[in-house]
Amino acid sequence: MTGILENIYKEQAGLLTARQLTGAGTIAWECPSNIALIKYWGKKSGQLPINPSLSFTLSHATTRLSLEYEVIREGRQPEVTYFFEGKPQKPFGDKFRKYLLQVTPFLPFLKSMKLTINTGNSFPHSAGIASSASSFGAMALALCSLEQEICGTLQDSDDFFRKASFLARIGSGSASRSVRGGAQLWGYTPSFPGSSDEAAVEITREIHPVFRDYRDSILVVNSGAKSVSSSAGHRLMEDHGFSRPRVEQARNHLVRLLSVLRAGDQEEFTAIAEQEALTLHALMLSSNPGLILLKPETLRILELIRQFRGETGIMACFTLDAGPNVHVLYPSACQDRMRGFITGQLARYCEHGLMLHDQVGKGPVKIP
Ligand code: DP6
Repeated sequence: MTGILENIYKEQAGLLTARQLTGAGTIAWECPSNIALIKYWGKKSGQLPINPSLSFTLSHATTRLSLEYEVIREGRQPEVTYFFEGKPQKPFGDKFRKYLLQVTPFLPFLKSMKLTINTGNSFPHSAGIASSASSFGAMALALCSLEQEICGTLQDSDDFFRKASFLARIGSGSASRSVRGGAQLWGYTPSFPGSSDEAAVEITREIHPVFRDYRDSILVVNSGAKSVSSSAGHRLMEDHGFSRPRVEQARNHLVRLLSVLRAGDQEEFTAIAEQEALTLHALMLSSNPGLILLKPETLRILELIRQFRGETGIMACFTLDAGPNVHVLYPSACQDRMRGFITGQLARYCEHGLMLHDQVGKGPVKIP
């Protein structure tokens, strides 16, 4: 089944090719990563999610991407050169090449372009902090700026970011939630008008001020590359015995989380965030083959966070991605006490004490 946005963008693509193309230039964006509270885990064809997800966009964990372009010929596909922090890097270069072919039906002018892509991350490359969301977010934003520059389209900011989210999703599902700041909802839910499986919608205006600058300290327990890619993990949901109840649970969590975010209810927020994180790993543990991505240090950190919350009443909680690293979420008002607790009691479980103190951010920035 083709989606509504997909049809619209394909139709508009016909008009884009009709324009005269000339010129060369450079476009650069800095795009943050995001942390999901309701997890996207499992997809349908077309990189569409089996359940809606909700995330906070981060501030400091970012990817900077520059896109040099030059119109060279009437071609059949873009000519792509890729550098990671100034050096050629084949695996990611191949990913971008494949990605650019996938999005060419929506951006047909790419066929006659020579593109040089350069990316770099604000966080150490090997820190095990997912970078596909920020990388594909930055790439999609740069492509929308390119369309704007050479075709004069996407002048309206809602149109611009909707298409950026749609294009980012094609690269990596979670990237659809990184092209704007605050809180993002990706996936259709009847409880939020305008929500869609094809692109994320911003819900920051809906959320209570306490959540708008929530803190996220990312504790790096293990910086090694993931033993299983998230794409392989998503695939394990296809014939997972718990897939149906999981989708049901995620939908219910989403409805509850939306009202919790509006009300500023941190206690309920904590309960949902932790249940989502533990469910994600329970699904991985119970898939075939079962994936064990948690480390002993991860479990110790989770226990200590719960213990600290019980003793102090501070509403700190944890969430996890598909890996061993822990995101500690807490209100900005408790920052000093939390940092003391993290340094004093949790840092020892991190690899070389590695951590990144981040927070909900305002979203990507175009670099002049
Ligand atoms: C556990 O977006 O990395 O972080 O679409 O295959 O690129 P692909 O997967 P990806 O999956 C993210 C999974 C998650 C949960 C989430 O961010 O919602």
